[in-house]
Amino acid sequence: MAHHGKADWTDDERVQRMAKSYPVRYDDMFWKSLDALIGSGTREVVADFGCGPGLLLADVANRYNAKVAIGLDESKEMLAQAKTILKERRNLDSFELIHVNFDTEEIPVETNSIDFAFSGFTLHEVASPTDFVSQVYRHIRLHGFYVVYEVISGNEDVFVKSMSYIGMSEEHARKLYPHVGKHSASDIVEILQSSGFQDCRMITIDDFRAVVVGLKR
Ligand SMILES: C[S@@+](CC[C@H](N)C(=O)[O-])C[C@H]1O[C@@H](n2cnc3c(N)ncnc32)[C@H](O)[C@@H]1O
Repeated sequence: MAHHGKADWTDDERVQRMAKSYPVRYDDMFWKSLDALIGSGTREVVADFGCGPGLLLADVANRYNAKVAIGLDESKEMLAQAKTILKERRNLDSFELIHVNFDTEEIPVETNSIDFAFSGFTLHEVASPTDFVSQVYRHIRLHGFYVVYEVISGNEDVFVKSMSYIGMSEEHARKLYPHVGKHSASDIVEILQSSGFQDCRMITIDDFRAVVVGLKR
């Protein structure tokens, strides 16, 4: 079956649309869920695996007073957009944007070096979520968190309605749903657990998206 859930992220218009929809996708309910799951505090090194346009990375760097922000993505077009965003954040000591394909390459980041790692709407795009999350696990420091934010299976109608807020037609949203919402929230917890994460917890929002967190002990 063709991977309809994976968009062409070399298309600049699509990249711009993804950036424009950021405030809708990362709304108050997302931030409240994230706060409830991991609380506040300083996290020196933050990384976004599948960072896309870099807006979330810039916001978490700010929120956790990070010194270093690392964005990783296979799309050069997304990384170019992320560079523009991160350059504007002058409170960061440094940022690094890494071009890497998680399906075919080793992630070129120091092991045990990241305090807070994140993947938003990326898990459904990688070839093997378990291999990918196992790789991420190696790069996280002891007591560091990994957060996955994803569309989840179970309520197609709510997904379709929410996609209409970012301008997607009903037909397109229904075609996309089985590919984007292919994991349930408990599938994602299981993927994190089988990759080594402990104390996994999740919050579902509006019945079609979930924030899942795992801790490296
Ligand atoms: C739906 S976009 C989400 C972007 C960003 N996390 C956000 O929420 O704004 C998915 C991102 O994952 C990246 N991606 C998908 N598969 C990948 C892979 N195998 N290796 C590296 N990046 C990948 C894409 O290039 C794209 O930027």
